Amino acid sequence: MTSEVVIILDLGSPYTHLIARRIREERVYSRILPFNTSPDELKEAKAIILSGGLSSVYDQNSPQVDPKILELGIPILGICYGMQWLVHTLGGKVTKAECYVYSRMEFELANFSSLFTQLPRTFQTWMGHGDEVEKLPDGFEVIGKTLKSLFAAIADHKRKIFGLQFHPEATWTHKGSDIIRNFLFLVSFCHYSWDVSSLIEPITARIKERVGQEKIVCALSGGVNSSTLTVLLHKAIGNNLHCIFINNGLLKKGEPERVIDIFRGHYQINLSYVDAQERFLSKLIGVEDPEEKRRIIKEEFIAVLEEEMNRIGGCRFLAQKTLYSDVTEGITKEDHSVTRRTRWNIGRALMEKMHLELIEPFQELFMEEVRLLAKELGLPDEIIWQHPFPGPGLAIRIVGEVTRERCDLSRDVEWIIDEEIKNAGLYHTLWQVFGILLPIKATIGVTGDKAYEYAIVLRAVTGVDAVMVDWAELPYQLLSKISGRIIREIKGVKRVVYDLTSKPPGTIEWE
Ligand code: XMP
Repeated sequence: MTSEVVIILDLGSPYTHLIARRIREERVYSRILPFNTSPDELKEAKAIILSGGLSSVYDQNSPQVDPKILELGIPILGICYGMQWLVHTLGGKVTKAECYVYSRMEFELANFSSLFTQLPRTFQTWMGHGDEVEKLPDGFEVIGKTLKSLFAAIADHKRKIFGLQFHPEATWTHKGSDIIRNFLFLVSFCHYSWDVSSLIEPITARIKERVGQEKIVCALSGGVNSSTLTVLLHKAIGNNLHCIFINNGLLKKGEPERVIDIFRGHYQINLSYVDAQERFLSKLIGVEDPEEKRRIIKEEFIAVLEEEMNRIGGCRFLAQKTLYSDVTEGITKEDHSVTRRTRWNIGRALMEKMHLELIEPFQELFMEEVRLLAKELGLPDEIIWQHPFPGPGLAIRIVGEVTRERCDLSRDVEWIIDEEIKNAGLYHTLWQVFGILLPIKATIGVTGDKAYEYAIVLRAVTGVDAVMVDWAELPYQLLSKISGRIIREIKGVKRVVYDLTSKPPGTIEWE
């Protein structure tokens, strides 16, 4: 592990972990800490970034950083709320904006700054804020502006304190990575010191030492994270690894066969296959609320896993694919934002119930970093580069009640979409693509003898993470081919519509 670290103090932004990710992409190690971390704990940081946040500096409970961090002599970059906190704390003035700004904005450089070295004079930025800076603190100058804001980027070059009203971590800011790179290397003098591929040996050595000759159990879904975890554990402890693959009836078509083929067939890993389709589907009868569906699926998953572990016997360790973004959610959600959906933390629940010890080798890593490990471990590309598939599976892509008939239909729809997108060579250009089955039966007009049949929403998004995505501009011909095939080949579906919503403000899934 590297000794050089950039600290991000989280002030409640939904995008905080993107900042950490962008820094790691520059091969510099970053960590997210709560906004009220003591300045003593920050002394060793190469740089400090204050994230955005959902508050106004004037709110009674707005997150406040200890102002002593400003005396540490460490370069500081405040983003959005982070910049407003800097201005407010250093004696400038922040006021309410005329209206809430939530949009892509053309940004223009106003003065020379090392932060903007080698950047064009204008570029697109992305902003979302309700307050804005009205007067700068002493020592600061404007280094960039937009049509709406004269203080879109500010700097006190002497003290190396910078503020950006826009989000450089957002993909919708076109030169965001360059700005972060300049802050790291030209302002803070960081070095390339973070290399994920060098982690394999130390991680496997630590696991071996901790587990000795005992067994580790791992729930394998076939997704990128659990597959990489499985191969890494197998490398560390060989046949003492026992994987459990649970078919909950909500998987994609052909998924159980694919997973068994790769992990039992190719890797020769101990793999128990549990066909629990009936158990899950019967529990979901009559349930329409998405959160209730998630709760039922999670509880049933835990129950099946527990039974299977009892059957295997002698299980003391449970491996879980926890990522850094899961760990930091605890920090970023504390007090300042809302958890919308039930977390898929199976391990914690089982750990307490069955007195297990958890092994979470990825809890320092982002998903893209797990992909790098997977590549280094030699996993097949079809696993590494597959699109994310949600834990509750098709249940959240079937709006309303989940039935066996709807699952089969949804599976067939996803198969067609996947096949056509892959045939068009567009799979790797998309973040996710899938179909959503609506609970309404739309009129079909003239074909067939039934008057009402299901409608499917086609959802395709582009992006480099699940935080910000655009709806994908798929070619009309392809849209036509997909909709034509769905309507012709899937009995019970007679209408296909395309979702034109980006995130934010929308979400990727419908439930
Ligand atoms: P949203 O819909 O929030 O999705 O834009 C962001 C990412 O998370 C996935 N997703 C889930 N994954 N359990 C999961 O394991 C869930 O309940 C869940 N809900 C959404 C979604 O597919 C996307 O990649």
